[in-house]
Order: sequence, then C-alpha cells, then structure tokens
Amino acid sequence: MKLALTILSIALVAVLLAIAWSEENPEWANYQRVYFDLAQRRAQSSTQADWYRTQRVEIRQISVAPLKRVDRCTTCHLAVADPNFADAPEPLRLHSALLQSHPPERFGCTVCHRGEGRAVTTLTAHGEVPGSSVRMLRGEYVQAACYLCHAEKTLPPAATSEIVAGEIAINQLRCLRCHQIDGMGESEGPDLSAIGSRRDALELDAHLLNPPAMNSGSTMPIFPITRAQAQAITVYLLTQQGDAPPANDVRYRSANFRFSIFDFRLSDRKSKFENRKSDGVLAPIVFFRYDGQQLFWAAGCGVCHRIGNEGGAVGPALTRIGRVRERDWLRRYLSDPSAVRPDGRMPQLYLNDREIDALVEFLLTLR
Ligand code: HEC
Ligand code: HEC
Ligand code: HEC
Ligand code: HEC
Ligand code: HEC
Repeated sequence: MKLALTILSIALVAVLLAIAWSEENPEWANYQRVYFDLAQRRAQSSTQADWYRTQRVEIRQISVAPLKRVDRCTTCHLAVADPNFADAPEPLRLHSALLQSHPPERFGCTVCHRGEGRAVTTLTAHGEVPGSSVRMLRGEYVQAACYLCHAEKTLPPAATSEIVAGEIAINQLRCLRCHQIDGMGESEGPDLSAIGSRRDALELDAHLLNPPAMNSGSTMPIFPITRAQAQAITVYLLTQQGDAPPANDVRYRSANFRFSIFDFRLSDRKSKFENRKSDGVLAPIVFFRYDGQQLFWAAGCGVCHRIGNEGGAVGPALTRIGRVRERDWLRRYLSDPSAVRPDGRMPQLYLNDREIDALVEFLLTLR
C-alpha cells in the first residue's frame, strides 16, 4: 500500500512537471492530461484503464437541444460522473448525487449554475468577468435555478426556502406599490418581471442596499432590512426571468445526446461514492492560481466597493483597507460576514478558501 502511494506520488510529480514544461497549452488541456493520467491509475479494471488511455485531449461539450444551449464545462470538469474522483480537488471532482436525477448528457450544467457555457477559461466560463450577464450562482442563490423548472411542486422545502422568504419580504415591504411583477402593482419604478435576466445577484443586492449609489437620483427608498432578507429578496428576483425560454421543457426527457465521458452507469454511482474513502493524495495539487486583483473585480467586489476612483459606492471604499484590517480579520469576514458583523449588510458571497486567500493577500497590499 505504502509502495503504491509512493509510486503514485512520484507519478504525480512527473505529471506536474510535464505540465510546467508545456506552458503554451491551454489551461483546460492540462486538466485533461492530469485527469486521464490519474484516471488510468485509479481505474478499477484494465478495460476502464484502456478506455481512459484512448481518450483524446479535446474540447468536450454537451448540447442541450431543447434550450439551444451548448455547455463546455466538462472540458475542465471531467470527473463530474466519475466515482473514482470523489476526493479530488476541483475541477476534477465527482459531482453530488443531484446529477443522478439530472444526468449531464441531458441537462448540461448552466441550467443550474449559470455561467458562460461555451467559454473554456475558468473565470469567463464561470461568468465571473466584469460585464458578464451570467455570473455563476453560488451557495443558496442556486435555488433560483431549481425553481425555474420545479416551481414549488416537486422540491423539498429546504430547496425553496429563500424564494418563499423573499416573496414574503416583498409583500411585507410593499415593493409593488412602486413596481410591477407579472402585471400586478404600480409603475413608479421599473417593471421587475424580467429583472433576473438583466441583473445578477450582486447588482440586485447592491440596489437594495443603496439605490442612489447604483442609480444617482434614484427615488427608491433605502429599506432597513437584514442581510438575510436582502439575500432572500435577491434570490426571489433572480427567478423573475420574463419571457426567457421555459427551462422546464418536457422534451428534456427524450434528448438523446450521449457524452463519451459518462460511460459509467449512473445507477452505480451512489454506492461507489459512499464506499470510496478519501486517500488524500490529490489534496495538495493546486490547479488554478487566482490573481487577487483580477479576482476582486471578477468576484464582483467592485459592484459595491471602490479602490481609488474605480468601482461602486454602495459599501465603504477599500483604497487603504490594508492599513486598517489584519489578515485574520479579513479572512474571517470574507468567509462569513455575519459571524463578524451580525447586523452588517455585506452579503455572504460563498467564496471558497482559495479565493479568500487570494483576495485577502490583494486587500493587504492596499495601503
Ligand atoms: C477552463 C476550465 C474550466 C471550465 C471551462 C469551467 N470550470 Fe468550473 N472550475 C474550474 C476550476 C479550476 C475550479 C476550481 C477553482 C477553485 O478552486 O476555486 C472550478 C470550480 C467550479 C465550481 C466550484 C466553485 C466553488 O464555489 O468552489 C463550480 C460550481 C464550477 N466550477 C462550475 C462550472 C460551470 C457551471 C462551468 C461551465 C459553465 C464551468 N465550471 C467551467 C475550471 C473550469
Ligand atoms: C440540477 C442542477 C445541477 C446541474 C444540472 C449541475 N449542477 Fe453542479 N451543483 C448543483 C448544486 C445544487 C451544487 C451544490 C452541491 C449540492 O447541493 O448538490 C453543485 C455543485 C457543483 C460543484 C461543486 C461546488 C460546490 O459548491 O460544492 C461543481 C464544480 C459543479 N457543481 C459543477 C457542475 C458541472 C460541471 C455540471 C455539468 C456537468 C453541473 N455542475 C451540473 C446543481 C447542479
Ligand atoms: C432544467 C430544468 C431543471 C432544473 C434547473 C432543475 N431540475 Fe430537478 N428535475 C428536473 C426534471 C425534468 C426532473 C425529472 C427527471 C426525470 O424523471 O427524468 C427533475 C428531478 C429532480 C428531483 C428528483 C425528483 C424525483 O421525484 O425523483 C429532485 C430532488 C430535483 N429535481 C431537485 C432539483 C434541485 C435541488 C435543483 C436545483 C439545484 C433542480 N432540481 C434543478 C428538471 C430540473
Ligand atoms: C417608493 C417607490 C419604490 C419602492 C417602494 C420600491 N422601489 Fe425599487 N425602484 C424604484 C424606482 C423609482 C426605481 C428606478 C430608479 C433606480 O434604479 O433606483 C427602482 C429600481 C429598482 C430596481 C432596479 C431595477 C433595474 O432595472 O435595475 C430594483 C431591483 C428594485 N427597484 C427593487 C425593489 C424592491 C425589491 C423593493 C421592495 C423591497 C422596491 N424596489 C421598492 C422605486 C421604488
Ligand atoms: C452588494 C454589495 C457588496 C459586495 C458585492 C461586496 N461588499 Fe464588501 N461590504 C459591503 C458593505 C455594505 C460593507 C459595510 C459593512 C456592512 O454593512 O456589512 C462592506 C464591508 C467590506 C469590508 C470591511 C471594510 C471595513 O474595514 O469595515 C471589506 C474588507 C469588504 N467589504 C470586502 C469585500 C470584498 C473583497 C468583496 C468581493 C469578494 C466585497 N466586499 C463585496 C457591501 C458589499
């Protein structure tokens, strides 16, 4: 066992070195090489190993014909259906069991996550570049996507909690005395029936926080709402897609595209997922290096915060934040703003640890 691990580690180093020498290769090609190489080693039979060996490094895509969508997410996220990769870091990790009822070859990825389906670099694919209208939905915000297909009918209450809370808050705060949604309400402010197709989560949250900062001269009142209420209202507004093509088209069931990487039987997946113990070998591999400054604008911090003359004025300027706050404070705050400031209004952005580290290192340079 120990010997096997040593051999595997040496092989990994070799793979990583090979990658370092091939810098002209696109990012996605590197993930594919690492994946096919490791997958051969982890294969549970020689037939499986042979299958991986014959895979070509190429762009992979899923066409979701009823929605006219083409998703290339699996060009990098190759292991979404691979039970041998339950313990791997992203983008080479097995997806949660949700894909058993929504098989990728029929649903693709962007119906739930949003993002730029055709793009093949990380931040652009995730819709996390300034100006993208399809910012990836993170954390609880993904409820908006589930709701578009399921409404409240077939979902457990936990999967619609934010939407229900948002609808209640909108009624309590009487937003419809100025706005229309689906023909109801007044017209002092713009119609919100399709607002979820025009604005992303951060813009909506920012507008609720401070309307004049988003639209100078705005007469929309500043509501004294909590962070939790703002999140719920935002998730609800994201479900307002106007006449966007109905995502719950029943033809979904008969789409017959077959995607080679998913040759594993979906029905086998759950038991394998549960049986597999994490061997930890992959954990130290870091695939993607964030540039903290780029991420600051990509993650949407600039919608609300200014650095120098650039950015929004919804939250405080961060031009000299590195003088005022320490590393640990920033790290805690970005991972859970409500734990540091229960009554504050900065939203929970559901960032992962690697993103937080990169952002914090950048913020500390602002002095
Ligand atoms: C060029 C390669 C690439 C493509 C294409 C790509 N991703 Fe990713 N994705 C990554 C990498 C790398 C990570 C891990 C980044 C990290 O550790 O923060 C990741 C992480 C993620 C995560 C987890 C983010 C988190 O909270 O930690 C989600 C969800 C995701 N991708 C969805 C998608 C979707 C949906 C698409 C298609 C629209 C897509 N990705 C296309 C490379 C890619
Ligand atoms: C039916 C909706 C749905 C579809 C389709 C879907 N996902 Fe997900 N995905 C989710 C949800 C929800 C989560 C969060 C984990 C959970 O609750 O299952 C998630 C988690 C992830 C994560 C890990 C990030 C995290 O928060 O743990 C990645 C990466 C990811 N998805 C990529 C993809 C890719 C790539 C595809 C397309 C092959 C895809 N997803 C298709 C709903 C979906
Ligand atoms: C594009 C439309 C679409 C989206 C988006 C979507 N679903 Fe589904 N979902 C379906 C369809 C269609 C089925 C039925 C699958 C089948 O029977 O072939 C289903 C099945 C399910 C089931 C299984 C129900 C059962 O009776 O077996 C659950 C649970 C579920 N979805 C939860 C979710 C969650 C949670 C999300 C958001 C993360 C989500 N869905 C997003 C279309 C969607
Ligand atoms: C007193 C009238 C009034 C009330 C009450 C009001 N709004 Fe507004 N709202 C406006 C006006 C006027 C605008 C257009 C100016 C602007 O962009 O702020 C607007 C703009 C918006 C926008 C941006 C629309 C866009 O196209 O970008 C959103 C989102 C919004 N309101 C949501 C809400 C929500 C949610 C509530 C309830 C919590 C609410 N509003 C309550 C008057 C109001
Ligand atoms: C929707 C608006 C919004 C977005 C997006 C946003 N913030 Fe904030 N942020 C705020 C508000 C408002 C405050 C003021 C404190 C409060 O009310 O919670 C704040 C406070 C902060 C502070 C603390 C400043 C201090 O010293 O008190 C930091 C640091 C910060 N934000 C960083 C970020 C980073 C990094 C991002 C992007 C990952 C981000 N923010 C995204 C609204 C936002």
